[in-house]
Amino acid sequence: MLMPESRGSLSEAVFRAMRTGETSGLAEAPPSDTAEDAQVTLWALYEQHYRGFEDVAGELEWDPQLIGVRRGLEQEFERTLRDRMPEVPEPDGFAEKFFDFVADHDGPSLAAHVHRKATEDQVHELLRHRTIYHLKEADHTTWVIPRLSDRVKAAVMELQFDEYGGGDPNLLHAHLFVRGLQDSGLNPEYGAYINEAPLEVLEENNAMSLFGLNRRLRAASLGFLAAFEATSSAPSRLMAQGLKRLGFPESMIEYYTEHVEADAVHEQLAVRTICGALLEEEPELHDDVYFGAFSALDLADRYAERMLTRWAA
Ligand SMILES: [Fe+2]
Ligand SMILES: [Fe+2]
Repeated sequence: MLMPESRGSLSEAVFRAMRTGETSGLAEAPPSDTAEDAQVTLWALYEQHYRGFEDVAGELEWDPQLIGVRRGLEQEFERTLRDRMPEVPEPDGFAEKFFDFVADHDGPSLAAHVHRKATEDQVHELLRHRTIYHLKEADHTTWVIPRLSDRVKAAVMELQFDEYGGGDPNLLHAHLFVRGLQDSGLNPEYGAYINEAPLEVLEENNAMSLFGLNRRLRAASLGFLAAFEATSSAPSRLMAQGLKRLGFPESMIEYYTEHVEADAVHEQLAVRTICGALLEEEPELHDDVYFGAFSALDLADRYAERMLTRWAA
């Protein structure tokens, strides 16, 4: 993948420094012009810790100037996310309260739109946006694994083993998505559609990396995972039916049918075993589990809101 296009003064300065390796002037980099400028910069800085860019030297992954810019953007982003938080439930009876919290959260549904009304073009656009996450599906949770106790770690591994295809590269969830993209006439290359990703997609992906790459936020990462899994099974069924209605290829439909069953299991595992065990061991992390969970729900809402408004216009 090559570096994305810049979206303002900050991304322009940082991306130039990344491409040339001349990072010494970054202390005087201009502030971001817009939230999108800040988020695309943060996204590219995080991407260095995943598969990186062909046009950026690998040693810049730990360049102190770039890490400094990343820290500043992360702090600002974490504050924004925390400011959006509602009241969280009391800590007793965690799993039931958590499932209620997710169920009571009533946001706009893209899956319902795809199920009944979306056009083929709209679904293509949605799939292009979803490549930003699905082509590295589950990777952000992997960052957290070494930071957990044996008991929580084993449960996360059970879930990740499924996401990574149970040892078969053809069954890796990211790979199932690649096949679906290919058969749908879309570009399956990692990062191919980053330049059209709207703010909310960048924010969602950056939240996953923020929680995954900062040990102190491990509970937020697992809370994000739990809310994500707990809101996947039923929408995946609607997505599969909508894709069928529109005549999408079988492989694309299968990506979603696979998630109907897998995520019905994963939500139990993530809420009860993973977050449940984490909070038995470290009850002080309770509110951070909800911080991650709410962020997952709210960022999905914001994206759905944008797309549904755009498509209705
Ligand atoms: Fe998955
Ligand atoms: Fe899953």
